[in-house]
Amino acid sequence: MTFIIAIDGGAGSGKGTIARGISKKFNFSYFDTGIIYRGLALKTISKYGEDFTDLNAVSEANIFDINSVNESEIRNPIIDKYSSIIASIPDVRKIVVSIQRNFREQSKHHRGIVVDGRDIGTIIFPNANLKLFISASLEERAKRRFSYFLEKNQKISYNDVIKQLQKRDQRDKERSVAPLVAAKDAHLIDTTGINIEDTLDIVSSLVIKKFDDYCDIL
Ligand code: DC
Repeated sequence: MTFIIAIDGGAGSGKGTIARGISKKFNFSYFDTGIIYRGLALKTISKYGEDFTDLNAVSEANIFDINSVNESEIRNPIIDKYSSIIASIPDVRKIVVSIQRNFREQSKHHRGIVVDGRDIGTIIFPNANLKLFISASLEERAKRRFSYFLEKNQKISYNDVIKQLQKRDQRDKERSVAPLVAAKDAHLIDTTGINIEDTLDIVSSLVIKKFDDYCDIL
């Protein structure tokens, strides 16, 4: 049995930074599930253009190889948009869910795993040992995304970042399958105005407590 931490939240909520920080601190492995939808979006657009059909995306999902994803190509406003569109196609999600659940099997020799996404605590690992749902105000999330894009020399205005975030939130929350929603037993953490060190301290104490309980029952 592997100790599983499920971290969900909207775009720019800080969930990725928290997940990476916690995996490093506790020497757990880390799995960013958004990479799959991003990688798939890139492959689908490259092959079929931006007016691809659902079937095009499904056929790409069927042959998807996570090892072929190049990080530097999937972190930009275009892929932000199309990964969310692709993630709303029910048949794509069916295929991706099995890729994600496999991760537990691959990590069975690890002390623990940290998995982040939109549906980890609700659908992928509903029995996770610790579930977190991360949020932050729209302005704070937009500031974070905007400075990320500036740093990477990606041209987009602050107003467009706000608009894109609103659209993506809406799509991720309103889709018919696995919408972004906090699991009933998730700890809700609002990172607005809290720096990453303080956030990691809050999350670390939750991890320590749950990990102790988990070791007791092993
Ligand atoms: O976490 P991210 O921004 O890299 O995710 C990109 C998109 O992928 C996001 O807008 C919705 C989708 N996604 C999802 O639907 N389910 C997940 N578990 C992870 C990501």
